Amino acid sequence: MLHLCRPRRMWTKRQFLIKLRKINLLKSPRFVIETSIVFFLIFFFTLMVMMKVIEYNNEPLRVDQNFIYFEPLSSFFRSEHNKGNIKVDWHDYIAINLEKSRTGPGENGMGIDSVPEDEEELNQRLFDENGYYGLISDKISVNRSVVDLRHKDCWKIRYLKDLPTVSVVIPFYNEHLSTLLRTIHSVINRSPPELLKEVVLVNDRSTKEFLYDELKSYLSQNFPKNLVKLFELPARSGLIAARLTGARAAIGDVLVFLDSHTEPNVNWLPPLLEPIAVNYRVCTCPFIDVIEFKTFEYVIQDEGSRGVFDWHLNYRKLELQPGFQKRPTDLFPSPVMAGGLFAISAKFFWELGGYDNKLDIWGGEQYELSFKIWLCNGGDGGIYDVPCSRVGHVYRGSMPFEDDRKGTDFLSINYKRVAEVWMDEYKEYVYMRNPERYKNVNPGDISYQQSIRKKLQCKPFSYFINKVAPDMLEYFPFIDYPAFAYGAIQSMYEPEICIDTYAKDTGNELGLYPCAPDLEDPQDTQFFTLRHFRDIEIKNTMFCFDRNEKGMLLTNICHHHQGNQYFRYDMNTQQIRFGGDMNDECLDMDIEKTEAGAIFLTKCDESSLSQKWKFGYMNETALRSWTVSGFDIYDPYEYRIMRQNGL
Ligand SMILES: *[C@@H]1O[C@H](CO)[C@@H](O)[C@H](O)[C@H]1NC(C)=O
Ligand SMILES: *[C@@H]1O[C@H](CO)[C@@H](O)[C@H](O)[C@H]1NC(C)=O
Repeated sequence: MLHLCRPRRMWTKRQFLIKLRKINLLKSPRFVIETSIVFFLIFFFTLMVMMKVIEYNNEPLRVDQNFIYFEPLSSFFRSEHNKGNIKVDWHDYIAINLEKSRTGPGENGMGIDSVPEDEEELNQRLFDENGYYGLISDKISVNRSVVDLRHKDCWKIRYLKDLPTVSVVIPFYNEHLSTLLRTIHSVINRSPPELLKEVVLVNDRSTKEFLYDELKSYLSQNFPKNLVKLFELPARSGLIAARLTGARAAIGDVLVFLDSHTEPNVNWLPPLLEPIAVNYRVCTCPFIDVIEFKTFEYVIQDEGSRGVFDWHLNYRKLELQPGFQKRPTDLFPSPVMAGGLFAISAKFFWELGGYDNKLDIWGGEQYELSFKIWLCNGGDGGIYDVPCSRVGHVYRGSMPFEDDRKGTDFLSINYKRVAEVWMDEYKEYVYMRNPERYKNVNPGDISYQQSIRKKLQCKPFSYFINKVAPDMLEYFPFIDYPAFAYGAIQSMYEPEICIDTYAKDTGNELGLYPCAPDLEDPQDTQFFTLRHFRDIEIKNTMFCFDRNEKGMLLTNICHHHQGNQYFRYDMNTQQIRFGGDMNDECLDMDIEKTEAGAIFLTKCDESSLSQKWKFGYMNETALRSWTVSGFDIYDPYEYRIMRQNGL
């Protein structure tokens, strides 16, 4: 075995002496202590400096610095939980009964229909200021009870006993005080105290005075200091920066983002948190109910739909496909979050780099985050809508705030940033729709976002198109389907008058207004498209003409499935017919009215001039070959009749 032995090292005399000295020195206790102290001091000092640098970098208001996230030792996601899979009933029956016993204006989610005559003027002023009736809000308790609109089976569902803690982040800009306070109170009233670590408010440099001292004194008098925290941005920075500030400050395991005019419903938190407790790379969204901007009544919006986008990057909704959900209480995947209300673990949020901090003001951030969540989740995360968690939201009746960045097209910059970083070759379908707009926009430095995409080995965008939202292209194809007709809908009875939405959102009646000068390209409130889907869409919204059960003509989310949104233009009679021929209902108008009741459906009458209309642009070929142009006609009876009529 001799060959395995190494030859002994031979020392020169000098080397030997050095070696000896070292050993001696090391054996000297004084030297050991001294070097240890020096070493420790250097280490400690470096650590302190590093911590200070990070602390400085991570300061909530320094949004322009990329956040450096360290998962706290106490983080829920560091250790295993719920090993026994123990589930409990999270309902707070005491609070629920207390709320049930409340009486007064607006309780149980009721609305207030009117104000005394001497308050009309103030009422209108507070509407103009807020886009909702702030005076009505003032008349309703900040602790008001809401109506529980959850599916009845939600009562029976138990959730994991051990759930992560929550920081609720609420940015606000010029919110009406009572509406903001009701948001805060209802979060606290309906959240289990052991889960609600804090509410983080971020004032985006509002201009209303009561959002400073008055708000602060209310908070200090009504809430424990550490429960509600308030940050004030030094300058108006927009929604994205405000959310980032809140997220940087948050100490909970999970970030829940809310708008400042919302009211969470019964037991909203545990259903949102359980999927995240199981997998920290899951993001959850509550169902969004409607708090009417006129009355503050709390009403249902829909029973679930999936979010997607069209190639103008407008947020769009698609119906749930069969098979996505077994029971009405089950969560289901949604490709794009609506954006305002969602829950995500701080760990995952920061793993994804939070929001791109160079997105300005608002817009595009919901795509950025949604794309990241689906493409960079390591294979098992995603966005899910949670039917048993509901939050009411005031959809404004009009937008009261001036765009204070006139001149910068921040929306185009945001969209281009998101498209450049995430959408690969698919970005061309966005740019194609508005080449001039995008050609001249400089998205700025996107290297940090690209580095995140690389580091997390995110999937290509084709995965989103093919796997996450496979039916999106059916409704929003790369190349838009040609429309049957579009532009202003002009009355033939009074050709100066056109149909107008009055810039209102879902569920509203249509009105009449003097026509835009360019009937083929009017402003959005008068721009309607009789689409390939055989519905009438309001431009730049996701809303369509819609006949409700009572036979009223309203606007509602386009469902692309004809039925109560099926409309046809008859070139011969100039009528806009609802529901095809068998229905015999036509669009009519009352010239005496402007908004409510001005446009309605009634029995078709070819001799009635008030039933005659024209679109700014009409594709006669398509309209005269109704059955063979456009989407398949779903109703076989209608199809037969149309064929008989030679269409
Ligand atoms: C709302 O409820 C909280 C806590 O229960 C209570 O302290 C506060 O006084 C209530 N405020 C109003 C206006 O009812
Ligand atoms: C008009 O409709 C026809 C039939 O659908 C279609 O082929 C044509 O491209 C349309 N024209 C325009 C200008 O969109």
